Amino acid sequence: MINLIEQIRYDHISMSRILLIIEHELTRLRSGETANFDLILESMRYMIDYGETVHHPKEDAIMDCVYGRNHKVDEFIDAIREQHNRMDTKSTQFYKLIQMASMDQFIKRQEIIDSGENYLLLQRNHMRLEEEKLLGEFSLLLTPEDNTQVSQKFIDQKDPQIKDDFKKVFSGLYKSLLGL
Ligand SMILES: [Fe+2]
Ligand SMILES: [Fe+2]
Repeated sequence: MINLIEQIRYDHISMSRILLIIEHELTRLRSGETANFDLILESMRYMIDYGETVHHPKEDAIMDCVYGRNHKVDEFIDAIREQHNRMDTKSTQFYKLIQMASMDQFIKRQEIIDSGENYLLLQRNHMRLEEEKLLGEFSLLLTPEDNTQVSQKFIDQKDPQIKDDFKKVFSGLYKSLLGL
């Protein structure tokens, strides 16, 4: 049986690696160098296609199962749900900004740096909150039946990083991850 909590932890490690790639490009911009916008775009495509489209809905499904079983945990769940909505919007905003920059539309360097750094901070704080305050509680509250039900729902939605076509679909990202 797939352990959902372990899967969530694995996703966080996977996404943290992508955030490092974005951070590296923002550092280049900050020091006056040219950033690889195509690489940031690929990174954001990953964060939207997997993070926002699979990882967060998977966490939402876990939260639906355990909601109402512990009042204190419910408060954290409410906060996390609100953050999921906010991050969905922020991810798309940052993606569109980089898309414009990559099409040679004039965007102030500082605007890209600020938007990117805000995005990184939001994602990292969010994952830290889940790791420190929620996942331990989830593993106590989630029944084997819940685990099976949620796992089944997401069984075909695997992390692109472990798929055979990752090298082809995210070629720039694949090369950069090798260099981490
Ligand atoms: Fe989350
Ligand atoms: Fe998460």
